[in-house]
Amino acid sequence: MRVDIITAVPEFFEGPLNSSIIKRGQGKGKVEIFVHNLRDYAHDKHRMIDDKPFGGGAGMVLKVEPFFEIIEKLKSERDYDSVVFTAPHGKIYDQREANRYSLYENIMIICGHYKGIDDRVREAFATDLVSIGNYVLTGGELLAMVMVDSIVRLIPGVLNDSESALDDSFQDGESIGAPCYTRPAEFRGMKVPEVLLQGDHGKVKEWRAEQSKNLTEIWKKINKNGAQL
Ligand code: ADE
Repeated sequence: MRVDIITAVPEFFEGPLNSSIIKRGQGKGKVEIFVHNLRDYAHDKHRMIDDKPFGGGAGMVLKVEPFFEIIEKLKSERDYDSVVFTAPHGKIYDQREANRYSLYENIMIICGHYKGIDDRVREAFATDLVSIGNYVLTGGELLAMVMVDSIVRLIPGVLNDSESALDDSFQDGESIGAPCYTRPAEFRGMKVPEVLLQGDHGKVKEWRAEQSKNLTEIWKKINKNGAQL
């Protein structure tokens, strides 16, 4: 898979893309991630990427020309399965969407910043309008990173068997995984559930299924009915 990210703040991605499983996925050749600095495509005297909004109002708007230049260049080089435009009014991202994107060959993610992007960019190129949630961020970079993280771990061969994504929470529709524990078996009087220490795999499986069911019920109460924990 190839992911192209277009952003006004490329430095944002330096740490996350060079850490943990995302780094490994790139190292194994399972995913190539390219971060494009919008400023490299601004050619006026001051290399301006933003300007005041037509009609007045607060904030700055990312200009149309640098986006057109980089997006048209990338699109002339390969076909994209999806061109994602990040925005608070998009479809809220979830595991189902992560699964969908993980099957794609080429994805482009266009990060909004400041007040937003001149809407002609969305009109011309966006196939998907995606939001990280119903709150406003400084830009779409966090969502781009969330997407890359959740997608890369689903690409076959990125995780090893012991890390398999198959029993992740949400991987099976709306289902939360069981709690997990490691040594010591007792810490400050708090004990790990006995069943996990006994080596009976059938019983462990049953216990995990039961826990998963309970946690899913609790999750539904909190997230769908507004209950507090
Ligand atoms: N940019 C600002 N807020 C956002 C959000 N909630 N989702 C995606 N992009 C954003």
